[in-house]
Amino acid sequence: MRPRLLTPLVALLLAAAGPRYTESGDLVVPADYRTWVFMSSGIDMSYTDRPAMQGQSMFDNVFVDPESWQSFAASGHWPDKSMFALESRGAATKGSINKHGQYQTQDLMGVEFHVRDESRFKGGWAFFAVDEHGAGKFIPYTAACYACHLAHGAVDTTFTQFYPTARPVAVAHGTYHAP
Ligand code: HEC
Repeated sequence: MRPRLLTPLVALLLAAAGPRYTESGDLVVPADYRTWVFMSSGIDMSYTDRPAMQGQSMFDNVFVDPESWQSFAASGHWPDKSMFALESRGAATKGSINKHGQYQTQDLMGVEFHVRDESRFKGGWAFFAVDEHGAGKFIPYTAACYACHLAHGAVDTTFTQFYPTARPVAVAHGTYHAP
């Protein structure tokens, strides 16, 4: 028999995991995404032949929620309720003792989420952008985000090919689709 005290506790834990939404369909922005599992950083990544923005550099940092990472490690698939955060930050050269190279600044230039919720979204996944009030706004399916991620993301519409600890897991499980 299950100890009676455990049941509400388990219910609470289950409720805490996975994406949550407001009544108007915004994503409740997880306040702790910075403590999630770190996937990678990119600097000035660009998808066109044109050179990156002149004189302005930007880092991006990608994190995934820890429950989904556990599941991915065992299966090579990003499970239902996966949440990825992509955070953009300013880059600087001159500061403290630094003479060369670039480091990330406190300038937060944007936070976006890629969320898997099979019963909720067309195609199973949706994108959200955090607005100036801290609300996670749904990005319509017609946005370029969906087409590029679907066509070029190596695992379940995510860019796992750029996440050095995740890529070999997917390759080993046969879930890696070289775009
Ligand atoms: C032309 C291709 C392209 C388009 C368009 C695009 N992305 Fe991405 N996205 C990428 C690449 C490449 C990465 C990997 C970034 C890295 O390695 O740091 C990525 C990573 C991400 C991630 C991290 C999780 C994942 O799926 O790998 C999020 C979140 C994200 N993009 C959101 C968006 C949003 C929101 C939009 C639309 C406003 C968008 N992207 C449009 C190419 C694209």
